[in-house]
Amino acid sequence: MPQPHFVQCYEEDQAAVRAELAQGLRGRPAQVAPKFFYDPLGSRLFDAITALPEYYPTRTEAGVFAQHAAAMAAHVPAGAVMVDLGAGCCSKAARLFPVLQPAAYVAVDISVDYLRETLVRLQGEHPQRPMLGLGLDFSADLALPAEVRTWLAGHGLAQAPRCVFYPGSSIGNFSPPEALRLLRQARALCREGGPGGGLLIGVDRVKPLEVLEPAYDDALGVTAAFNRNLLLHVNRLLGTDFAPRRWRHVAHFNGGESRIEMHLEADGAQTVRWPGGERHFADGERIHTENSYKWTPEAFEALLREAGFATPRHWTDPQGWFSVFWAGV
Ligand code: AVI
Repeated sequence: MPQPHFVQCYEEDQAAVRAELAQGLRGRPAQVAPKFFYDPLGSRLFDAITALPEYYPTRTEAGVFAQHAAAMAAHVPAGAVMVDLGAGCCSKAARLFPVLQPAAYVAVDISVDYLRETLVRLQGEHPQRPMLGLGLDFSADLALPAEVRTWLAGHGLAQAPRCVFYPGSSIGNFSPPEALRLLRQARALCREGGPGGGLLIGVDRVKPLEVLEPAYDDALGVTAAFNRNLLLHVNRLLGTDFAPRRWRHVAHFNGGESRIEMHLEADGAQTVRWPGGERHFADGERIHTENSYKWTPEAFEALLREAGFATPRHWTDPQGWFSVFWAGV
């Protein structure tokens, strides 16, 4: 029975994490990066969010793939190496295997521990398709490490086209300059392979406020719990004494920046302490925890072109809420 190969590149530097958190908490306004949502409980809460009636992106994107996968396959070259960014449980990519027929699958996530079980099972279902799990913080640098390139060459795939797969509109959690940087790196990765490669990416679109805001402030309070859970995670990482009950979940659409913003708002004046530091918060003062940018198709196409991609095209759902772009190199 073939086994997937695993390569762990990212190593957590605990001192650097503490320094980053302390600096963010001291900032005016205070901020904590959204990557700190995803401790084990936060990842489960995010899964629950994707099942909420208000959170349209996950099921809308799934609908776009279900309806248009065959049309996408006319552009994505068969026999490509599929590089799945933020792969998690790998289910979105696996659903596309029968249509896109990748020659190999590279699942990228911050830790191979998240990928191990799923990839072993998936490899059992697709014994002919070489699979590799890569632990990498691709938001810092997306280049494939030498060990992965050697592994691809060992399977005769050094010159196979690369298909970078980035679903879920996670690109929306980057500011436009950060998104441009990531797209440029994705293009460089695609250009390492043979001709015909490109990027298949899910992008959430600008839409009416009545749809956007409840998606980030649902009736059951799951998104509120997801936001507040970040404080418990920070308590463990930095040793802060945040009391989550004393923080309100706030989500609103900032039209000028075209983004949903999530904040935690102090319910009463309070001082948060940690080893070596403290920060006083006035009643109503906020910690900025996430931006989720919403794009028009025209603006995202322009961003892809600026990153150097050629002939972007996209498919959408009947309401025009979500787009999946293919952009070749
Ligand atoms: C992961 N990311 C695309 C989600 C989003 O919609 O920006 C994270 C999220 N935050 C609150 N709800 C979902």
